[in-house]
Amino acid sequence: MKKSVFLSAALLVLPLAAQDDVIKAGGANRDRDFTSWMKATAAANGVLQKLETKTGKDAYEKAEALGSVYESMIGFWRQRGAADAVKISMQGKAAALELATAARANDATAAAAAYSRLGATCKACHDVHRMKMADGTYLIQTAVPKLK
Ligand code: HEC
Repeated sequence: MKKSVFLSAALLVLPLAAQDDVIKAGGANRDRDFTSWMKATAAANGVLQKLETKTGKDAYEKAEALGSVYESMIGFWRQRGAADAVKISMQGKAAALELATAARANDATAAAAAYSRLGATCKACHDVHRMKMADGTYLIQTAVPKLK
């Protein structure tokens, strides 16, 4: 009993820097900004998916929105020391920008190729960094480093 009172008191005074260290050390957690990025990603991707050719205004606007989410993700994953997710985010950003360029130029072939590369990044990241909970929500999963 005494011990648990002590522990919760210790958690209350845990300084921000120490919490960052906990995040960097890995594990599973939530981040409200990240979840809103993912909801925006899914919405933009849903619009793109329905387009017969990935060209025109809808396509480049959604592609540009995705490019900026991926840009934010690069910094997010870098902070968490997840090099693989940084790489996937960089690939996704590049594909989103290629898609935007092709969509503006009305180049359906290049747009389709860029869209399929962009789409591949969703699964690549989710397989490793998305953990599904029993209630249907998701956590961000980062590797827990081995204890020395
Ligand atoms: C670099 C990693 C990464 C990439 C790329 C990525 N996701 Fe995610 N996604 C995650 C993680 C981690 C979660 C779980 C955390 C969360 O939901 O906040 C998630 C959660 C989601 C969710 C659930 C959101 C919720 O309600 O919590 C959806 C929908 C989603 N992603 C769609 C996509 C789509 C579509 C793409 C590709 C166009 C994509 N994601 C690309 C990492 C990624």
